[in-house]
Amino acid sequence: MAEIQDIQWFPGHMTKTKRQIKESIKLIDAVAEIVDARVPMSSRNPDLSEMSNNKPRLILLNKCDMADPNATKKWLEYFEKKGIKAIAVDCKSGTGFKQFVPAVKDLLSDRLAALKEKGMGGKALRVMVAGIPNVGKSSFINKIVGGTKAKVEDRPGVTRGNQWFSVQGGIDLLDTPGVLWPKFDDKIVGERLAFTGAIRDNILDIELLAMRLLETLMPLYSDNICERYKLTDVEGLDSYDLLGEIGRKRGMLMGRGEIDTERAAIMLLDEFRAAKFGRISLELPEK
Ligand code: G4P
Repeated sequence: MAEIQDIQWFPGHMTKTKRQIKESIKLIDAVAEIVDARVPMSSRNPDLSEMSNNKPRLILLNKCDMADPNATKKWLEYFEKKGIKAIAVDCKSGTGFKQFVPAVKDLLSDRLAALKEKGMGGKALRVMVAGIPNVGKSSFINKIVGGTKAKVEDRPGVTRGNQWFSVQGGIDLLDTPGVLWPKFDDKIVGERLAFTGAIRDNILDIELLAMRLLETLMPLYSDNICERYKLTDVEGLDSYDLLGEIGRKRGMLMGRGEIDTERAAIMLLDEFRAAKFGRISLELPEK
């Protein structure tokens, strides 16, 4: 089986982000954590709850247009069982967006009641949008804020660079301060983030990555792969041979009829990231 070398992450940057998040936490009422619906566990940063001082949390399973709907359903049930509100959203079509404001109000019903009591019922609820790079934070903010991209004025005491946005319905959103790096101490987590494009390819061996993707997909989604690349007899092929077959089917040949497996690997990863094999999830919740 192919192995991906250990992927390094950046503890220095993370320390800075932790500090920035901790500083901003006093300004907010809740955290909306955006994860990639195809890898809801691997795309979370497990330190976020500690960083956010256990503020009420809403999980947005974004890119649900690319995820397996059955898997997304299981994830929603999983979070519900854990008492965490989760919504499946898609920033391309806007699926799930209507649920956002009511979900935040529901999550913060005590705070809303307290504000009303003090005669401050009109005060906006403040929510930090957090998530590792590439999960769709900017896309979410742009879409929910709407065409106007109304930015809330700078506030005193707010770290410079903190960006606030107003959402209709009485919510102000704060974009994640700093960069919340993924935490991939576990090789599998690193791989899954690389498959979805959350980690840049240039630090990885692209052929190994493509082989690992095939090894991950074949047990569950072999029909999708075979259909996409018109493969018929894949029984007993290892991932390198399979990558070669895919390259051959696409006519990716070098001199003397050799298959260009590097080109095939790049194409395979690109096509996976563009959901060309259909809606695929790489993780299911533990039972
Ligand atoms: P970030 O702020 O968390 O780093 O993520 P960002 O919004 O920049 O989104 C990263 C990529 O994911 C973008 O693609 C964006 O279009 C895509 N994306 C975000 N949300 C969704 C979604 O719900 N569904 C799908 N299918 N894609 C989503 P990109 O290739 O970097 O840019 P582009 O294709 O938009 O030009």
